[in-house]
Amino acid sequence: MPLHTQVDESSQDEGLEVNPVYVRELSCEIPRYRLPAHGVLPRTALQVVRDELILDGNARLNLATFVTTWMEPEAEQLMAECDAKNMIDKDEYPQTAELERRCVNILSSLWNAPAGSQAAGCSTTGSSEACMLGGMALLWRWRARRKAAGLEAARPNLVMGSNVQVCWEKFCRYWQVEPRYVPMVPGRLHLRGAEAAAQCDENTIGVVAIMGSTMEGSYEPVLEISQALDRLQSEQGHDVPVHVDGASGGFVAPFLQPDLEWDFRVPRVASINASGHKYGLVYPGVGWILWRSPDALPDDLVFRVNYLGGEMPTFALNFSRPGAQVAAQYYNFVRLGHEGYRHVQQTCQDIALHLSGAIAKIGPFELLTEGRDLPVFAFKLRDEVTGYSVFDLSERLRTRGWQVPAYTFPADLTEMAVIRIVVRNGFSMDLANLLLEDLRRQVQVLEHHPQTQPPPKIQHKRESFKH
Ligand SMILES: Cc1ncc(COP(=O)(O)O)c(C=O)c1O
Repeated sequence: MPLHTQVDESSQDEGLEVNPVYVRELSCEIPRYRLPAHGVLPRTALQVVRDELILDGNARLNLATFVTTWMEPEAEQLMAECDAKNMIDKDEYPQTAELERRCVNILSSLWNAPAGSQAAGCSTTGSSEACMLGGMALLWRWRARRKAAGLEAARPNLVMGSNVQVCWEKFCRYWQVEPRYVPMVPGRLHLRGAEAAAQCDENTIGVVAIMGSTMEGSYEPVLEISQALDRLQSEQGHDVPVHVDGASGGFVAPFLQPDLEWDFRVPRVASINASGHKYGLVYPGVGWILWRSPDALPDDLVFRVNYLGGEMPTFALNFSRPGAQVAAQYYNFVRLGHEGYRHVQQTCQDIALHLSGAIAKIGPFELLTEGRDLPVFAFKLRDEVTGYSVFDLSERLRTRGWQVPAYTFPADLTEMAVIRIVVRNGFSMDLANLLLEDLRRQVQVLEHHPQTQPPPKIQHKRESFKH
């Protein structure tokens, strides 16, 4: 969450203006940044808060986010019915806990955990928490190995591409692990096996492989990375486990690329996370993490709490958490089944390929990806286009309500500015064609009225979007 700081009230206008039509009370004072002395009627409060939210964007037109922005009414009803359930209270809500258990089991078979391996896992608030737990397990296991061998364990490092999501940077900073980023270069926009292995040494707690990259949607080659680490082990003796960050791909690859070996079929993969609230098709926030076997999850990270009645092993950063999302995840599994998920993801991919193909034909754009891994693709302006930038285009699309992020790539491609489009459930072919029309129109406008200020060199440093 953003960190908020105290507002100097003397510099702000005082209370909220409340439309007299809403007010049924004799007096209605609602200061912005202080608790009102008296309450108001529910209808008044509802109107006031709704009005405050009116400028929020239309989530269905947000092509920036990977997070679910549409669920069907029955799912919404179920979530509303479960709003009061606290996920941690396993004794009071044993059936919600049972649904979580079923979801973990469904995921363990989707991700090909070997039969009898006792793969273990849990739900989280999202992939960031799941990655934090995955990283901690790697760190604890490395420390235990070093301790058992009588070696110092003071300088752990984690190897990953510079394209990782910010949660991995957070993990490294919070747990004082040295991040070893493999930079991106033209033609290699994600981590590959040789480059990953070259960064590893005796202090490497693990390698993170992403399915797929937040930057442009491509899958990192988990099998290739793992085989490079096999060779490293046979040559230098370092046994480095892999964590797969499948925030999006964990719910896409099993349906669209079932033969791709990226999951527990690869013996070096120790753990996998995914966001239920991305291609798992649930509203935020729910994530999942699974470990291949109990060996991959050190026992001293697991807490056994009994003060809510019953005893339950848990591994989480939060204590209380809403149970509605877990119920909704299970609803989706039951509602869609394997074929339903495949159909939803395939439809997204068909739309992504249709869009990327049409965008490539407009003229000024060069595709970085087409949407063949995740239904996500990125494109940039050809080098010869200098009169405007992708940031100008992003801003112009905003005038029609489209939120299409433009951003620069991480090291070593920080000069490259791109636009990324995430196709999610609820973004129809019709909407895609409307977007295409607007894109063509805005390109024409920009070509005939190139931006005069600020110059593109400066503009392309602007950040219109944060991951
Ligand atoms: C690859 C990857 N990992 C982790 C995350 C963080 O996920 P969450 O938003 O569920 O915390 C994201 C979010 O976009 C992501 O793309």
